[in-house]
Amino acid sequence: MKKVSLTGIKPTGDLHIGNYFGAIKPALELAKEYDARYFIADYHALNTMKDPKELNTTIRQVAAGWLASGLDPDKVIFYRQSSIPEVFELTTMLMSFTAKGLMNRAHAYKAAVQENNEKNDDTDAGINMGLFTYPILMAADIIIFDSDIVPVGKDQVQHIEMAQDIAQVINANYGTQILKIPQAGVQEDSAVIPGLDGRKMSKSYNNVIPLFAPEKALRKTIMRITTNSQTVEEPKNPDECQIFQLYKLFTDENEQTSLASVYRAGGMGWGNAKEELFRVVNRCLSPIRERYDAIMADIPALDKILEQGAEKARPIAAATVKRFRKIAGID
Ligand code: TRP
Repeated sequence: MKKVSLTGIKPTGDLHIGNYFGAIKPALELAKEYDARYFIADYHALNTMKDPKELNTTIRQVAAGWLASGLDPDKVIFYRQSSIPEVFELTTMLMSFTAKGLMNRAHAYKAAVQENNEKNDDTDAGINMGLFTYPILMAADIIIFDSDIVPVGKDQVQHIEMAQDIAQVINANYGTQILKIPQAGVQEDSAVIPGLDGRKMSKSYNNVIPLFAPEKALRKTIMRITTNSQTVEEPKNPDECQIFQLYKLFTDENEQTSLASVYRAGGMGWGNAKEELFRVVNRCLSPIRERYDAIMADIPALDKILEQGAEKARPIAAATVKRFRKIAGID
């Protein structure tokens, strides 16, 4: 039997190429080796997104984004967290075994507390129980599908360790491996994707290249990349230039070698380099954008895909809950 990988996707709108190369593409690769499952963590999003329209749209955008990027719902399981009520039943079960002190140590909660303290605000101002218990719901997401591996960024490793802790406490209590202990799949050497200003591409730096921007807007964004004051004639170093770093993501070695030699020879200005970058980015993103637009134009069909995914996921989730109930004496 293949091992199970589980990817949790927090719905945030406006995916950018940093998300695509840093998270989406490597996560989709897992489907080659694993029995891969992907889900939209919409109840996690509710902790911070209280505008129903925004949340509703964002869930569809992010689902469409993953499908357009190549997620094949026939080969993997793709569903919404909110469609699997068993996840919330397991969350309640896990709560009984989770030390409050463990949650006190969660980075996100601690950061929120520290911010309040620095502002001389009440310690728990603005902190809801969803934020405080976030790692327990996440542990349930993972444990319910007997996940072997969970690909995450470094910021999420603590959450996986908490899921391990909670599962171990339960296994120790019942004296049997009732729950599978998940492992974090951290991508150690994932390249940092530079943004328009050369810093890591991130929404919080406002330096992103959106994944689904129309062609014109895409070109405009690429033209905004910051460059130094080298003249057209000056030879340029491709290794010190974010235009070239981005170019590498979209091209093969031949194209890279040839642009690098043009850089080194001098005679290519930044404007032309950006045009060249736009050409290859657009070449790659056009088909993805077209798929995305088509999916977003038929929301009922999209919802059906997610519903069908939930139908595949629920029996697996129900089996875990049943197993737990039995061993806990609640059968
Ligand atoms: N916390 C994850 C994030 O912020 C999203 C998430 C929720 C998740 N549940 C998960 C990731 C389970 C992996 C497994 O990105």
